[in-house]
Amino acid sequence: MAEVVIVGDSGAAGTLVAEAIVSLIEERPDAVLGLATGSTPLPVYEALAARSQGLDLSRVRGFALDEYVGLPAGHPESYRSVITREVVEPLGLVPERIQVPNGAAETIQHAGADYEAAIQAAGGVDLQILGIGTDGHIGFNEPGSSFASLTRVKTLTEQTRRDNARFFDSIDDVPMHCITQGLGTILRARHLVLLAFGAGKAAAIAAALEGPLSANLPGSAVQLHPRATVVLDEAAASELQHADYYRYAYANKPAWQGI
Ligand code: F6R
Repeated sequence: MAEVVIVGDSGAAGTLVAEAIVSLIEERPDAVLGLATGSTPLPVYEALAARSQGLDLSRVRGFALDEYVGLPAGHPESYRSVITREVVEPLGLVPERIQVPNGAAETIQHAGADYEAAIQAAGGVDLQILGIGTDGHIGFNEPGSSFASLTRVKTLTEQTRRDNARFFDSIDDVPMHCITQGLGTILRARHLVLLAFGAGKAAAIAAALEGPLSANLPGSAVQLHPRATVVLDEAAASELQHADYYRYAYANKPAWQGI
């Protein structure tokens, strides 16, 4: 079972996770981070940027979770652009050390295998940051994704395209396809940190953490991981059956354990 930590707000979650990342980098200066995009991880990146003075980030490596297929190079909503704008630049990471799946149509046939090889060559991901979609997806592994899946092209659900239309002029501009790390890829990371905020995520979180393991709810894959931490605000935790137990367990956890 994942460790569930319920905090006051997304800012507190960002600080908590940023501290865990700082500890990791202090211990392993060339740590490999798995980077999610979307709104959820922003407080983590902001807290990390605020905390980064005096921290040597020059050797940190990173792999984005996913990318849209077919957006023109340099499109502001491509995840390459988003990762550059929201993570690489504010943190002063070395751009060549941060990889994003290649969503260009010409190379898409082997882009998944190339990405898997690159992650393996880096020695795997140390800490994978995750958000969750309202349909339960992690990465862009939509309902029905195999728990053994590796990086590959997927078709986005209408619901995900609707959810992400806020970043584009209209839903028609949201690409139909994406390339995403698979659930099998994500499960290989050494530590998973899944975040969720707001009542809109409560049902997906309850199903992922307390429902049955099911490809129908890809987020339930975190139940299979030996070291998964789930950081939620009260609203996202509001449908959890065992919320009181998670609070009790975390309150009584020795401080030295961190998350
Ligand atoms: C993004 C990603 C997605 C998002 C999810 C939630 O790289 O992999 O799984 O984490 O769609 O998106 P937000 O955080 O915008 O609610």
